[in-house]
Amino acid sequence: MKILIIGNGGVSKGFQKVFNELDTPFDIYDRSVGDLYEMPQKIKLQYDMIIYAVGDIVWKPVRRNTAADIEKVFKPNIFGFVILAQMLPQILKPKGKILILGANLQRITTPFLSLYAASKSALKAFVEVAKKETRRYSFYLLEPDEIDTPIWKKVPVDPQNPKNPKDFARQVLDFVGFAPNV
Ligand SMILES: NC(=O)c1ccc[n+]([C@@H]2O[C@H](COP(=O)([O-])OP(=O)(O)OC[C@H]3O[C@@H](n4cnc5c(N)ncnc54)[C@H](OP(=O)(O)O)[C@@H]3O)[C@@H](O)[C@H]2O)c1
Repeated sequence: MKILIIGNGGVSKGFQKVFNELDTPFDIYDRSVGDLYEMPQKIKLQYDMIIYAVGDIVWKPVRRNTAADIEKVFKPNIFGFVILAQMLPQILKPKGKILILGANLQRITTPFLSLYAASKSALKAFVEVAKKETRRYSFYLLEPDEIDTPIWKKVPVDPQNPKNPKDFARQVLDFVGFAPNV
């Protein structure tokens, strides 16, 4: 069982803790390995499971969004996944699983989250199409409400009832039928 986690933030660390407890090795692709746009050059192995757990957020009224804000949010939230999806035949084994961190669209279509909401909506639509085109893989778009991670420090609101990242990861792995030694 070979696992790749893209990103090394709070959600990623939840998965890492569960895999460590299960004595299951994994690789991490984060900025220290390469830029998201360099994934085609840098990821060389084939995996059974890939977890796309990068993302960013900007809290601003629509009229204040800058070009830099658009790139900052759309790059990890959707463009990076578009690149990854194109690479799947090379890096994900047939019948492999790909887990993607989306977000609950009803929760995020609120004032000041226009870029975040738009990028996650684009991700959802992209994954729906990719699923239909590519039946040899199992795509899982995860749409959590609140997980207790550093991303919340970037917005001026606190989560109401956040999940522990490890509990979230464990529930997701149960849901997708993860079995460490298969
Ligand atoms: N936490 C929640 O309540 C929640 C709820 C719904 C969905 N999600 C989604 O879960 C995913 C993971 O978020 P998180 O909660 O773990 O937040 P996090 O702790 O802030 O982690 C985000 C990760 O994304 C990486 N990243 C951001 N922009 C990047 C870029 N341009 N290139 C490479 N890496 C980049 C960050 O790297 P650096 O640290 O190097 O910047 C970090 O590793 C995101 O897609 C988020 O939208 C989270």
